Amino acid sequence: MDTIVVEGGVPLRGTVQVSGAKNAALPAVAAALLAEGDHRVANVPDLADVRTMARLLGHMGCAVERSGDHHGLSIRVPAAVTPEAPYELVKTMRAAVLVLGPLVARWGRARVSLPGGCAIGARPIDQHLKALTALGARIELEHGYVDATAPAGRLRGTTFTFDVQTVTGTENVLMAAALAEGRTVLRNCAREPEVVDLAAALVRMGARIEGAGTDELRIDGVERLRPLDHVVIPDRIEAGTFLVAGALPGSDVVVRGCRAADLEALVEKLRAAGATVGEVEGGLRVVGDGRPRPVDVRTSPHPGFPTDMQAQLMALLCLADGSSTLTETVFENRFMHVQELRRMGAEIAVDGKTAVVKGVPALSGAPVMASDLRASAALIVAGLAARGTTVVQRVYHLDRGYERIEAKLAPLGARIRREKA
Ligand code: EPZ
Repeated sequence: MDTIVVEGGVPLRGTVQVSGAKNAALPAVAAALLAEGDHRVANVPDLADVRTMARLLGHMGCAVERSGDHHGLSIRVPAAVTPEAPYELVKTMRAAVLVLGPLVARWGRARVSLPGGCAIGARPIDQHLKALTALGARIELEHGYVDATAPAGRLRGTTFTFDVQTVTGTENVLMAAALAEGRTVLRNCAREPEVVDLAAALVRMGARIEGAGTDELRIDGVERLRPLDHVVIPDRIEAGTFLVAGALPGSDVVVRGCRAADLEALVEKLRAAGATVGEVEGGLRVVGDGRPRPVDVRTSPHPGFPTDMQAQLMALLCLADGSSTLTETVFENRFMHVQELRRMGAEIAVDGKTAVVKGVPALSGAPVMASDLRASAALIVAGLAARGTTVVQRVYHLDRGYERIEAKLAPLGARIRREKA
């Protein structure tokens, strides 16, 4: 297993380019299943999870190839596919559950492995299944698989209110409703930019969707959709990770290609922590001016502070001149980075959903263990600031969501390298 080695203490200076959003690319690839033909998805990051989704569509009988010209994927979907997502693929990437809605909507049946939990929580999909049932699907759970069928041959529009705001739940059902008969009204929907991007992609395929970006989606089903031709939005979490790194003392970084509107909650917190953040041509510039100031943050669904940025911000606040509180309301176990940060000298106390971070003047490099995607990113950020050497192990977690992060940080002056196991 590869490790990433960081020699900390070097302020970051320069410009870094953001890749396409993993969490917009994955639903877009799944959406290709809604229409026969040749699809083009551009600005797709080259990540482990994207390769897994491509392998999954390949398993179903689609042809998926990386195309250099638009740094994306070309996907050929046949008239008939094997509507299955096997455990071997789903267990490595929960987002594979996104094929469920498209398969049952287009072919009237799907057999998708139940995604296991993961490090950050149980991650149930009850809302996905309740909503598809409301659309007329018959759902059976056995042997760890979801067997979904549309008894009437086609799903039927309905009105459904989610019990919780779920990103992939909203996306799964939005895709299914696009081909259902009649009107569907979905309430308490997720409003993340990635949901809005999927809705835009579906509309370009011929879907009739209103309300994207609000918590109520209205969809008028159509008989058939045309192939996707879509450019994925920039990755706001990758961008946010670089903004946090650029807020470290003495750093001055331009994060190019991100959209300021997607990052407002994070930027507010970085400014409260004393960083200067401003819009520049094509992105955002962040300057870290001395020790951060403590801030309190509470994660919540968009447009609130993103749970996917909680770990990274915590790494910065470990250096603040005071105590910060971070409350994680979205997932039940998203503090795995805490014990690793403590190994680096951080003073953090966790009480249920809240972590209290008492800032220290400096962190010290140490061997640490990545546990999930964003916790790994937090350890890289901490390593950049720490005195001495940090060795992050199990970086396969990192590679799921960051396209060669060491190759992006090194030009900023970071002393960072990957060591092949
Ligand atoms: C998406 O996961 C993202 N993944 C996650 O990013 C992100 O952390 C999460 O949204 C929250 O923003 C992708 O988009 C591929 P949820 P998702 O359904 O859709 C509960 C990363 O780092 N819930 O919005 O799985 C659930 O347990 C990943 O890139 C139910 O109870 O998250 C959680 O507490 C990590 N029943 C809350 O809702 C359901 O049926 C939000 O989960 C579905 C969800």
